[in-house]
Amino acid sequence: MYPNRVVLLLFCLVTRFQLVFGFTDYLLKTCAQSGFCHRNRAYGSSISESGSKYYSIDLQSVNFDEDDNVMRASIIKRVERPDGNHASVSLPFSLAILSNNSIRFTVDENRPTIENLPQSLSSRRYNETSKWAFDCAETHGAKRPRIKRGWLQSDVYTIASPDKTVKLELHTKSFLMKVFHRGQQALVVNERSFLNFEHYRSKEDNYRHLAPEESSFNMFGDDFQYSQADSLPFGPESVALDITFKHYSNVFGIPEHADSLRLRDTTDRDPYRLFNVDVFEYNLNSTFPTYGSIPLMIASKPESSIGVFWVNAADTWVDIKYDDHDTKTHWMSESGIIDVVLFFGDEPSEITEKYTFLTGRPFLPSLSSLGYHQCRWNYNDELDVLTVDSEMDRAHIPYDNIWLDIEYTDERKFFTWKSDSFPNPSRLLKRLAKLGRQLTVLIDPHLKEDYEVSDSIVRDNVAVKDCKGQTFVGHCWPGQSIWIDTFDPAGQSLWTQFFMRFSKGIANLNIWNDMNEPSIFSGPETTAPKDLLHYNGFEERSVHNLYGLTVHETTYKSMKAISPEENTRPFVLTRSFFSGSQRTAATWTGDNVANWDYLRISIPMCLSNNIAGMPFIGADIAGFSGNPEEELIARWYQAGLWYPFFRAHAHIDTLRREPYLFEEPLKSIVRNAIQLRYTLLPTFYSTFHRASKDGSPILKPMFYQKPQFPELYDVDDQFYVGDSGLLVKPVLERGQRSIHISLAPGIYYHYPSLESLVAQTNIEIKQLDAPLDKIPVLLEGGHIIFSKERYRRSAKLYRNDPYTLTVAPDLLENAAGKIYVDDGETFNFQSGEFLETQVVLQKGKILKNIPLNVPSSHIFIGNRYIEKIILPVGRMTVKELVKVQKGHEIYEVAATREGLNSIAILNPLVRLDEEWVIMF
Ligand SMILES: *[C@@H]1O[C@H](CO)[C@@H](O)[C@H](O)[C@H]1NC(C)=O
Ligand SMILES: *[C@@H]1O[C@H](CO)[C@@H](O)[C@H](O)[C@H]1NC(C)=O
Ligand SMILES: *[C@@H]1O[C@H](CO)[C@@H](O)[C@H](O)[C@H]1NC(C)=O
Repeated sequence: MYPNRVVLLLFCLVTRFQLVFGFTDYLLKTCAQSGFCHRNRAYGSSISESGSKYYSIDLQSVNFDEDDNVMRASIIKRVERPDGNHASVSLPFSLAILSNNSIRFTVDENRPTIENLPQSLSSRRYNETSKWAFDCAETHGAKRPRIKRGWLQSDVYTIASPDKTVKLELHTKSFLMKVFHRGQQALVVNERSFLNFEHYRSKEDNYRHLAPEESSFNMFGDDFQYSQADSLPFGPESVALDITFKHYSNVFGIPEHADSLRLRDTTDRDPYRLFNVDVFEYNLNSTFPTYGSIPLMIASKPESSIGVFWVNAADTWVDIKYDDHDTKTHWMSESGIIDVVLFFGDEPSEITEKYTFLTGRPFLPSLSSLGYHQCRWNYNDELDVLTVDSEMDRAHIPYDNIWLDIEYTDERKFFTWKSDSFPNPSRLLKRLAKLGRQLTVLIDPHLKEDYEVSDSIVRDNVAVKDCKGQTFVGHCWPGQSIWIDTFDPAGQSLWTQFFMRFSKGIANLNIWNDMNEPSIFSGPETTAPKDLLHYNGFEERSVHNLYGLTVHETTYKSMKAISPEENTRPFVLTRSFFSGSQRTAATWTGDNVANWDYLRISIPMCLSNNIAGMPFIGADIAGFSGNPEEELIARWYQAGLWYPFFRAHAHIDTLRREPYLFEEPLKSIVRNAIQLRYTLLPTFYSTFHRASKDGSPILKPMFYQKPQFPELYDVDDQFYVGDSGLLVKPVLERGQRSIHISLAPGIYYHYPSLESLVAQTNIEIKQLDAPLDKIPVLLEGGHIIFSKERYRRSAKLYRNDPYTLTVAPDLLENAAGKIYVDDGETFNFQSGEFLETQVVLQKGKILKNIPLNVPSSHIFIGNRYIEKIILPVGRMTVKELVKVQKGHEIYEVAATREGLNSIAILNPLVRLDEEWVIMF
């Protein structure tokens, strides 16, 4: 959500913007307008010419810490001056080998005592981004492998990981690090000497600390129109570094940007910027920042992949240059320390695996949250909500979650209800709970001034402060507002208390944290002034991209804490995110527009998050603002049903568009799309379970699933659904009635008809029909998927239905599929109360179930029966009667021709939680 037109217009008039380009262009800095980005880009180009080296490792300082398994040393930065008045600083450097052969290095600064700093301001550089981004269990629990004392030869330290797959040469004369993976040079750190650590100096003394290659642009003041008030108490403090991927020509990741999946060369455009901001109707095909930031980049080629994780939450820009055979990157952050983790693997999936091992796996959501979410700004009152609820049922459209945007509150005061409209919230929630449904309400971190909630924040001294240490007041939805500081443990407890009072005893209430970048209408770049102060005296400047995470993580923990007896899994949606957000929240792509361009961009946006460890994401269907045409609505639901987070949402100025309001045939098209999602819930849920185990994407890009084919590296409009074998190519253009899909060699089946097609050589492009009522989906040979075919009103009601298995043999007549089932709502799965089983087709002869884990009681998993097994016709021979063997029991069941292309075995009397074999 974003300021409505009136508010914006006001701001426009006041500040005389020009609405020439995109809606928010004028509000955001370009690199040239950003002091540190401008300085670092300029430094990069002049140091390339001069070849100067200002950084080296002090050999005397090198020390291998046996307790900590870390190598420590000092990097000396020395700026020579003709007058002999050299400036020299010592920067603490550390290097560690983590589990999984990952490498972490940091560069910090020992700042001198700084005179005249405001009392409330810490003089240290912020080094706690990792504390928030890394999963606590891992950082505190796992012991690092021993770092062996490296050997030194001609000023180069050589250090290897315990199993020697990763080797590192640390050149000490000029700071340079070459990293080898399986004997091949993979990556070079500071190859281009872009390392730039803007150490502390006073304004008066600045001239003495500047290298000739440096620009002093905006070092002590910010001349950008909206941030001139920035007090910049430390002057320049940016950190920057170049990293070259050797023999890689494709890089991905660093979401969130409204751009292609494969990152583009930024030589002639602005660098990709990571800075969480509220960007209503954001620009497309742009490196501009959006709501969330995950500073993980993945370089990939057949047989190997590398991940670079830049652990810094300040305003960050990344330049990319594809150069002959290498990819050169330049990372620049406004403040904080240099903290980098490098991951190595044979495939991109190993990078996500290792990255989420460090930062935490995505949480396992409730089954209900994988259903369809119906949202609008706003459902006005209880009657409105219940009308939508019953109209969905009348139209036979399943749904699980209805949402209340900001207007449900009393004067936009969070933790209150507008009493005329929602006189009895628990009555409403109970009504919804009858069918297993949920209500999600908006709670934002900005709190209207002068009511009990904001008053207690001020009283407990846990509000975000201005640069003088006073409670910061800014403009947001309710007017003058303050912001809770959820970096502060006391702020976290208070936040939990608010939830205690607000939602005690209600199990089916979920929370949506919006505007938590934070969005501040009166702030520079629509967000917080960079000199605001947080807990422990750290500036907003250094923690900015983490703020949203602290809010939604505290919300999640609060929701979990308030109903321990129910033991249910909370659902929290956040707009702002950072590395680690996947542990506790889902997200979405923010305020998009109801047009085809935004539908198209939603696919690479979701894919980028999916490979960066935060897979639970979707885009608002069918565009938040504007009124979509009918064809767009149809295509958006058909594409959107695959989003991990499946929600329709609409701006307050738009016409109502709940699916039951549509005329035929649109209504049926949309109903079929939503029903398909529900049919496939067992598959989606299993995919989410897998993600919670190893971080794997729910939606997988082509390069990720088939890394051996370089032709697929820039395909970002088709995707796989986890490991299910479902391959989707949604229609993303008006008037299109067929699509072209790129296929790796193998056999594929149209889903659900099971008509087959074979791709022979390398990458083949096939044309598939896509009339308006058809979703182009293939099931790749080699897979078995699980579905539930009846219509039910909500996810919970599907639990009592039996399963259908669809078997898609590969060219050798083999196939396999795994399913995971639990109660779908509690944490009982953590004590083993879940079913996991694998069904395998062997050589087209036998189909066999191999339970891997069975719960203590079937009440945890609902219906366990398989009512139908579907096989394609033609490839394998299936007799009219097939034999089923269960223990000592053997019997026959009929296999009957179903459609043109499929055979069905009906009621084989087998369950998922027992062993059985079917012989063809
Ligand atoms: C990474 O290391 C951890 C602990 O050492 C291990 O549990 C995990 O499986 C490893 N992951 C990979 C991909 O090797
Ligand atoms: C941050 O720096 C302080 C002071 O040097 C140190 O005590 C602390 O351990 C560091 N924290 C992290 C997470 O590295
Ligand atoms: C974005 O790029 C795509 C592909 O290059 C193009 O089709 C589309 O029109 C562009 N959209 C905008 C709004 O520029």
